[in-house]
Amino acid sequence: MSEELVGPEIFGDDYLGFYGQLLEERSDSEVELIVRLAGLPDGASILDVPCGHGRIANRLAARGFRVTGLDRSAKLIELARSRAGELGVSVEYLEGDLRELPFDGGFDAVINWFSSFGYFDDDTNRELLAGFRRALRPGGVLLLEQASRELLLSNLPRHGGPAIILSEQGDDLMIDKVTFDLGAGRSHTERITVRGGRVSRTEFSLSQPSASQLADWIRAAGFSTVGTLDETGEPVRPASRRLVVRAIAA
Ligand SMILES: C[S@@+](CC[C@H](N)C(=O)[O-])C[C@H]1O[C@@H](n2cnc3c(N)ncnc32)[C@H](O)[C@@H]1O
Repeated sequence: MSEELVGPEIFGDDYLGFYGQLLEERSDSEVELIVRLAGLPDGASILDVPCGHGRIANRLAARGFRVTGLDRSAKLIELARSRAGELGVSVEYLEGDLRELPFDGGFDAVINWFSSFGYFDDDTNRELLAGFRRALRPGGVLLLEQASRELLLSNLPRHGGPAIILSEQGDDLMIDKVTFDLGAGRSHTERITVRGGRVSRTEFSLSQPSASQLADWIRAAGFSTVGTLDETGEPVRPASRRLVVRAIAA
């Protein structure tokens, strides 16, 4: 039985309310990096999972790739479809769960982007990697991108207590109090949101294995070459903001 430790409420209205603008600003350069690291010809097939509101899937489709996007949020999928319509691109959008990917071979690439891994207990997280492998043809590329665990660790107060991360959108506030359990390899976030004067609180726990541990998990899931890079596509360093793992299906 899988244990879900980042619940669906994290990706409700507050998600795009606070992250929408930031995501829009970084999407073009992220898609450049994806295209460069995937190294695929025009017309190649790409699975973007979970695809959220389709900011990456729609841009990849606009560049001539055949794209499928899957996400559990009906609202985000609806937004993705309507943006695809506005852009005049065609993407197959599916509502579904990461743990039950209905794909068997065929894709040239699987993209898992913007801290979209680690939402479950680690046995389940590792099963997801096997699901990504099953979706790929041999030689297909997996790109998995997430916040740097080292950056988070370096932001933790030296003498204990949480790192406080504040996001502001006009008068609205999101305050994340983040701690890290090194033994479990998980960050724990207590999130306080103030929107329109209304305060809400939630919590979540994200698995953040080290780059080398994640590479080991990915190899064990059926990938051969595994590279650990950063947001520029160079080998990841302790000071990198993001970790990008590039792996080739065996
Ligand atoms: C941080 S967002 C990133 C979305 C997208 N990759 C991007 O870069 O914009 C994570 C996404 O995971 C989706 N998600 C969370 N749990 C899921 C699950 N069990 N199955 C499918 N999607 C899920 C959420 O709905 C959300 O859209």
